[in-house]
Amino acid sequence: MFTVALLGASGLLGRAVANELAERSDWRVVRTAYRRVYDASVPLDMRDAAAVDAFIGRTAPDAIVIAAAERRPDVCEHDPALARALNVDAVTSVAAAARRRGAWVLSISTDYVFDGTQPPYRCDDPPAPLNAYGRSKLEGERALLETTELGCVLRLPLLFGPIEDWQESAATSLVPAIAASASPNAKAAVMDAWATRYPTFTPDVAFVIRQMLERHARGDAICGITQWSGAEPMTKFDIAMRLARALQLDARLTPQHTPADATPRPRDCHLDSSRLEALGIGRRTPFDEAILQVLGAFPWRP
Ligand SMILES: NC(=O)c1ccc[n+]([C@@H]2O[C@H](COP(=O)([O-])OP(=O)(O)OC[C@H]3O[C@@H](n4cnc5c(N)ncnc54)[C@H](OP(=O)(O)O)[C@@H]3O)[C@@H](O)[C@H]2O)c1
Repeated sequence: MFTVALLGASGLLGRAVANELAERSDWRVVRTAYRRVYDASVPLDMRDAAAVDAFIGRTAPDAIVIAAAERRPDVCEHDPALARALNVDAVTSVAAAARRRGAWVLSISTDYVFDGTQPPYRCDDPPAPLNAYGRSKLEGERALLETTELGCVLRLPLLFGPIEDWQESAATSLVPAIAASASPNAKAAVMDAWATRYPTFTPDVAFVIRQMLERHARGDAICGITQWSGAEPMTKFDIAMRLARALQLDARLTPQHTPADATPRPRDCHLDSSRLEALGIGRRTPFDEAILQVLGAFPWRP
């Protein structure tokens, strides 16, 4: 039976991938988690190379999806050792164990490997990350591709999807401030209108990953670097306006036209998705429709 090991099944993206793969009842999907070990997930600290090797030996997967990472830019900036342990060294351990067993590895990366000055970015454009998060993810990409020939990187931009907490995605994390700004006599909420993002719906990414796994299961694995992105450009101010409309809130929002983040962030990293599109892979749910699904499944009052 085709077996997939999904590492980081408890995260924002990992949960969506787990849901999507559950549709393939003819596949065996083994999920791992670290702090949130629910249901039938296997506990695994990916920083423990011996534990990773034993897990992969025991599970004997045909394919491994790495959705575990440290992806908070501010945490990576202040603790580069932690970022490296998970985003680089753990990827190397998984890739080495996978190579020994002939398994294909799909590792998730980010648009933050680019500096955001010359969009759109093709898969083979030269990366130039601006912050510690982007640097660690780029090193992780290189570690994967140097360690195994059966490696594939999937770069993604800002993600949103079904959440357990408003803070889980950079889109929904705006909701508490939007709601507070709608209270009587509240100050306007200032929202970044400098950087352009391409919010991408995690169930769409999960569908893309399933299609990539299906190609591998047919003996036609995709290797090297791939990218997938939503197609609607938005600043955080634009996202906040759309969230306020979806929540039917009379929010008071002010655009900020200069960068305000403590950690340097790129201005526009639009990812070209044509490599996957040319293979007939992809799905894009319109943002307004997707965000209604997310809000509908979560109690909206912060
Ligand atoms: N979120 C975004 O906007 C975004 C944008 C572009 C790219 N990406 C990339 O997409 C991927 C998924 O991101 P996400 O947003 O789903 O991340 P997330 O919600 O923060 O989830 C992180 C996952 O990593 C697991 N994890 C943390 N420490 C671990 C450890 N020591 N050993 C094993 N697992 C560990 C977590 O497990 P527990 O929760 O069980 O501890 C969780 O399943 C990452 O590669 C990220 O860089 C994300």
